[in-house]
Amino acid sequence: MASITVIGAGYVGLVSAACFASLGHTVRCVEKSPERLSKIRDNQLPISEPSLDGLVARGQASGALSFSGEIDESLNGSEFAFVAVPTPQTPSGAADMSAVMAVCGDIAEHAAPGSIVTLKSTVPVGAGDHVASMLGPDLPVVSNPEFLREGSAVRDFLLPDRILIGASEATHAEAVASLYAGISAPVMVCDRRSAELAKYASNSYLATRLSFINEIARICDATGADIDQVSRAMSFDPRIGSLYLSAGIGWGGSCLPKDVAALAATAERVGVEPHMLRAAQVSNDAQIETMVHALDRELDGLEGKVIALMGLSFKAGTDDTRESPALAAAARLAAAGAIVRGHDPLATIESGESSPTIHICDSVDGLTREADAVILSTDWAEYLSLDWSRVASVMRGRLVFDARNALSPKAVEDSGLRYLSFGRRPQIL
Ligand code: NAI
Repeated sequence: MASITVIGAGYVGLVSAACFASLGHTVRCVEKSPERLSKIRDNQLPISEPSLDGLVARGQASGALSFSGEIDESLNGSEFAFVAVPTPQTPSGAADMSAVMAVCGDIAEHAAPGSIVTLKSTVPVGAGDHVASMLGPDLPVVSNPEFLREGSAVRDFLLPDRILIGASEATHAEAVASLYAGISAPVMVCDRRSAELAKYASNSYLATRLSFINEIARICDATGADIDQVSRAMSFDPRIGSLYLSAGIGWGGSCLPKDVAALAATAERVGVEPHMLRAAQVSNDAQIETMVHALDRELDGLEGKVIALMGLSFKAGTDDTRESPALAAAARLAAAGAIVRGHDPLATIESGESSPTIHICDSVDGLTREADAVILSTDWAEYLSLDWSRVASVMRGRLVFDARNALSPKAVEDSGLRYLSFGRRPQIL
C-alpha cells in the first residue's frame, strides 16, 4: 500500500483522497481554505456527495486519511503527490493554471526525490510537459485525468468507465495504475499529451452532443415535431445511442463550460479554428434565450412578473451551482425586469450576495405562491413528483416551463396549468 498526498479537497480531491484511503492507502489531503479544513476534520463536509461522509469519517477514524493545511509536512515521505486544485476559466477562455503551478512550486520544494507527481486537475494539453520540465527528472509527472461526475462522484471513482494514465515512462504509469488495484476498470496508458487532450475532448463531445439535440428541439418547436420521439428514434442506431440525447436548458456546471472554452482557446493558440466548439457554445447560449423569449411572449412581457425557479444547482443530485443554467436564466430574467424566486432541495446560495437577482424560498409553496410562471430548472426528484394541483392553487399565473423536459405534461395540464418545454409535443401522441 502506498502513501499518497492529495492537494485540494474539493469534488475531485476530497473524493479521490477518501476513496484511495478506502482502498487501503495512507492518504494525507492538503486544503488551503482554513474554514473547509476545520469542517472536514470535524467530518462536516463542504460538499454533498452520496457515501462521501461515511468514507471520510471512517478514513479519519482509522487514521488512513488525514487533513492538513501544510503542504510541506504533508508531502514528507509521500510516494505520490496528486494535484486536484481548480483550473477555472480566465477571461480569454483559457484555463487558469495559477493554482496548479503554485502547488507544483511547493512540490518542487518539498517532495522527496522519486515522488510521482500526478495531475488530476484538468489541464491543457502540454501542461504536464511544462510541469515536468519545471520539476526536473527527480520528480516524474503523470497525467491521470478524472472523469467522475458530481452527484455520483464516489461511485464513479470506485467504478469508473476507464482509468486513463498519461506518462513518459511505463514504470511511472504502472506505479499510478497500482494505486487503483482492486478497482475493476480498463486501464489505458498513453502519452501525457493524449491523456490531457482526451479529457477535454470527452467533455467537449458531451457538450456538443447536448447542444446538437437542443438545436433539434428548437427545430421541433418550429415545425411541430416532438423531440422525445426524434431522440428515441435516433437512439436505436448503435452509432448514436441514447445517453446525452435529452433536450433541456443547456449544459452548465463546473466543468463543461470551462473545458469547452479552454479547448477552444488551446485550438486557437495552436492555429486550429475551433468551429464545432464555438458552435456548441453559441447553441447553448441560444437555449436560455429561447426560454426567455417564450416566457416573454406568453406572459405579455416580463417586467414585474414573478418567475419561480425550481432548482438552482446545475443538475440534480449535487449542491454545486457553478455555471448553473438556472442562475444564468435567473440573471437573464431579472435583467428583463422579472422578479425571480428560487428554491433548491440541497444547493444554497446567499440571497443578495452571490446572486442578487434571486429571492430564495425555503419551500415549494412559498416559491410558487402568486407566481406568474414556474420553471423546472433542475430536475430534482421531489419536483418531478409534485402535486401540481396544489401548485396551481397557489400560483397567480398558469404557465409551467419544463426546462428539463422531465415533467409529466399530463400531470401539469390536468391541474389546469399550461405546459411549455423544449420541443415536446405531448398532445400529438
Ligand atoms: P473544487 O473547487 O471543488 O475544489 C478545489 C479545492 O482545492 C478547494 O477546496 C480549494 O480550496 C483547494 N485549493 C485550491 N488551491 C489550493 C492549494 N494551493 N493548496 C491546497 N488546496 C487548494 O474543484 P474541483 O471541482 O474538485 O476541480 C478540481 C479539478 O478537477 C479541476 O481542474 C476540474 O476541472 C477537475 N475536475 C472536476 C470535476 C468535477 O466534477 N468537479 C470532474 C473532473 C475533473
